[in-house]
Amino acid sequence: MNANTSSASPSGPPGSVGNHGSPVTDPVDWEARYVTGDTPWNRGAAPPLAEFLRDHHVSGKVLVPGCGTGHDVRLLATHGAQVTGLDLSETALAMARSQPAVAGEDYELGDLFALPEKWAGRFDWVVEHTCFCAIPPARRADYVTAVSRVLKPGGSLLAVFFLDPGVDEGPPHGATREEISSLFDPFFVLEREWQPGETFPEREGGEICQLRRRRL
Ligand SMILES: C[S@@+](CC[C@H](N)C(=O)[O-])C[C@H]1O[C@@H](n2cnc3c(N)ncnc32)[C@H](O)[C@@H]1O
Repeated sequence: MNANTSSASPSGPPGSVGNHGSPVTDPVDWEARYVTGDTPWNRGAAPPLAEFLRDHHVSGKVLVPGCGTGHDVRLLATHGAQVTGLDLSETALAMARSQPAVAGEDYELGDLFALPEKWAGRFDWVVEHTCFCAIPPARRADYVTAVSRVLKPGGSLLAVFFLDPGVDEGPPHGATREEISSLFDPFFVLEREWQPGETFPEREGGEICQLRRRRL
C-alpha cells in the first residue's frame, strides 16, 4: 500500500494539542482495515517494549498513540502504569475493550493531530510503537509537536522506530536516523539508543529503540 501525501504545517490551531488544520489526509482508512480484519500488524505486544520493561520501570501516566487493539497498553498496565491508549478506530478500541480488563488501562477514541487542549502536559511517558511509521510521512513534524505537547516538561518518550528499508511501500513508512534526529532533537534530548534484542521475526535489524526526554 502506497501513501499519497502532501506537505503539512508543523503548528496546530489554538485550542488543540495537535494540528487539525493540516491539509494532509491519511490515505489509509484505518477503521475499514479493522472492520475487514486486514491488520497484519496486529500481532501482540511489542517485543522491544517487553524487553525494556524487564529492566526499567515505566510509571505514572502513559500515552500509547495509535494503540490499535491495545496489546502495548495492557502490557504497560500490567507493569503498574496508568495507561491511555489512543486510536482513531472505533473497532480497534472495541476489540481492546473486549479483552479481560487490566487495572490501569483506559482507551480514548481520537485523532493524535486534534487532541483537546486539556491533554497538554498530562502524561509522564509516551510509548511509541507502529504509530509514527503508520502516519503519512508529511505529518511527522505534527507527530513530534503532538507528543511533545501532551508530555509534562521532562517527560519521557520511549520509541520503537521502523528504520528506512530503502524503498517506501508503506505504511509502514521507515525513517532514517538522521530524519528522526532532525525532527526530535529540538524538542527531546536523546538519552539512549539501542538495537532491540527481541523483535518480531521479520523485523530483525529493522527497528531502533530510543529513550528521549522532553526538553523543559
Ligand atoms: C499500524 S497500526 C499499529 C497499531 C498498534 N500500535 C499495534 O502495533 O498493533 C497504526 C494504528 O494507528 C492508528 N492511527 C493512525 N493515525 C492515527 C491518528 N492520527 N490518531 C490516532 N491513531 C491513529 C490506526 O488506527 C492504527 O490502529
